[in-house]
Amino acid sequence: MARTRLLAGNWKMHKTRAEAVEFAEKLAQLSSDISDDAVIGYPELLICATFTALPGLMEPLQKSNTRLGAQNMHEADHGAYTGEVSAAMIKELGCTYVILGHSERRMYFAESDAAVAKKTLVALDHQLTPIVCVGESLEERENGETSTRIAAQVGAVLDALKDKQDGAERLVIAYEPIWAIGTGRTASKEDAEVVARAIREQVKEKLGDHVASAVRILYGGSVKPENIADFLSEADIDGSLVGGASLEAESFFRMAHNSTL
Ligand code: 13P
Repeated sequence: MARTRLLAGNWKMHKTRAEAVEFAEKLAQLSSDISDDAVIGYPELLICATFTALPGLMEPLQKSNTRLGAQNMHEADHGAYTGEVSAAMIKELGCTYVILGHSERRMYFAESDAAVAKKTLVALDHQLTPIVCVGESLEERENGETSTRIAAQVGAVLDALKDKQDGAERLVIAYEPIWAIGTGRTASKEDAEVVARAIREQVKEKLGDHVASAVRILYGGSVKPENIADFLSEADIDGSLVGGASLEAESFFRMAHNSTL
């Protein structure tokens, strides 16, 4: 099955609402300057903004055909969870995607594999596309524990989805080695492909061929315009989740373009 590539920007805790709209307008302008032919082969474009920047961002992003996503959500529909937001709340603002289990949330906000699995199920039930992040620490990599760590993170999510009749094929998994995030150090494309292939194999074992061939697997960690095409040349890598290099419209635009190479 042909999978549509995805270029997702994770803005983390950056940009006020005004700065976010400025980015979207700039991206729209850059996109309008190129011919329709140049867009052929473009990946699906997505920006995951802060909660405060979400209202009013969908419309300016639409001008560059870019989708809107959130960076987290709570698994409950509503309730006494001070400071949290639900799937329905982010959907109302135009989000079609949500990042779940980013390593920064696992690290600073103690999100467990079980919590991420629960949120994934809820996101799919609300017709949101979850981007589930997995990745090993430097210590785990050096101890040869990468594959077991990733398998445990992915396994928790797949177990939660095993009785799901449909929708699991919309799942996106982002492999982001923690030591490559914001460090300028990337996994080699070969190492990233080994992990991506193992993830797809695991999906196949748990959810079958049909889901495994549809699920999109992204690489994230110090991706920029200069190296994005390398990762996309690998068979099981279907796109990228980008932090720092997604903050400038020019750089995001160049990554979209270089994804077609
Ligand atoms: P950088 O692209 O800044 O390394 O961040 C990656 C990331 O954490 C995206 O979710």
